[in-house]
Amino acid sequence: MNPSNPTFSKSFIDYYSAKGLVPGVQNDDNLRLFQRRRGLYSHLGIVPRLLQDRKVLEFGPGSGDYALFTASHDPQLIQFVEGSNDCVASIEEKRDSGQFGSCEIGIHLGDILEYEDPELYDVVLCEGTIPGQDDPLAFTRHIAKFVAPGGVLVITNATRLSLLSDVCRRIVLPIFQSHANSEDELIQSLVDHFTPDLDALGNVSRSYSNWVMDIIIHPWHDIQFSIAESIEILSDQFEILGSSPRFLSDWSWYKAIDGDFSGINERALKSYRELELSLLDCRAVPQAFPLETVEEFTQLTNSAYQLHDALLQNPEEKYYEEFLKNIKLLSGLLIERMPDTAKALQDYHQGLSDLLNGKFNTDFGEFCSFWGRGQQYSSYIRVR
Ligand SMILES: C[S@@+](CC[C@H](N)C(=O)[O-])C[C@H]1O[C@@H](n2cnc3c(N)ncnc32)[C@H](O)[C@@H]1O
Repeated sequence: MNPSNPTFSKSFIDYYSAKGLVPGVQNDDNLRLFQRRRGLYSHLGIVPRLLQDRKVLEFGPGSGDYALFTASHDPQLIQFVEGSNDCVASIEEKRDSGQFGSCEIGIHLGDILEYEDPELYDVVLCEGTIPGQDDPLAFTRHIAKFVAPGGVLVITNATRLSLLSDVCRRIVLPIFQSHANSEDELIQSLVDHFTPDLDALGNVSRSYSNWVMDIIIHPWHDIQFSIAESIEILSDQFEILGSSPRFLSDWSWYKAIDGDFSGINERALKSYRELELSLLDCRAVPQAFPLETVEEFTQLTNSAYQLHDALLQNPEEKYYEEFLKNIKLLSGLLIERMPDTAKALQDYHQGLSDLLNGKFNTDFGEFCSFWGRGQQYSSYIRVR
């Protein structure tokens, strides 16, 4: 297969439509799915019982599987906005077979950016959809318009730093493409290659081939939208409520709060910046790093990301060499304070070098257990 990858003009929708891929399909039974959702909602400060009789708007629901949990708490209405026909068909099927219970279901097929609605909603959800849009900040401001005063906005974030482990995995794609004769063969060889990694991750709630298509083969638009960026873009009307992972503690005295804003956005920004490096490795015990180290790391992960873009367009050896140099520098920076992560990157360096030399059954060692906190969640209350 030709290793240069096509670009798609509309983030997500074009690729999912071309492949007939419905994102968000969960392999778990509803009990397990609901336990996970309850845990997530708790991180985000959403009490499920308080969804009863509320109006919920969900942007980019994919298969609609996550909405089964929301619907089980009897909101008055769930309004979906989704751009993919296949996803809309999956949601309609759930509605028609009564899986959303008695709540009213609205479905709008179309581009989120063009969506208009006079209604304001108690809860607005947008998961797995903002990082990767052409302009994540404008996109977030658009969807935030639909939150009623006192209501909640839930979004997801991802950064080049939190995605370093995915970036390392994605750049093997051209190597496998050049050895595959068809898309099916490519998917199978990538599933075989990444099975030790996915097994080590555990708790993977979708099929490995769906993961390969969505995370490895899916062309990414530039992905960068941090919790810090979302706090800043929303700070004229919203205050942060919660996040997953939780990183914020707030010891301010409630009686000292007056006016619309409590100052929590500023405190959250400070904690986020200090702890940001912990997003690199989901096994890491959170620790505050000096801001200069975070800055150095951010620059190296930014250039790793740019090399990833260049490589997927044009897999030249010089880009792989640069990428490997970059990995060595990152590993060196971490050796004292995050030794497991440093070792994982060293093993990756060896594994990728072997792969480039045609050794396909190479062992990536500790790298298989290295996964970043790729996607984070954050929630916001509209205070103004
Ligand atoms: C990565 S999937 C996330 C699905 C689900 N929310 C989840 O978290 O698993 C992104 C979803 O948003 C939809 N989407 C992305 N951009 C969109 C846009 N501009 N307009 C409409 N739908 C969009 C895609 O079709 C897809 O269903």
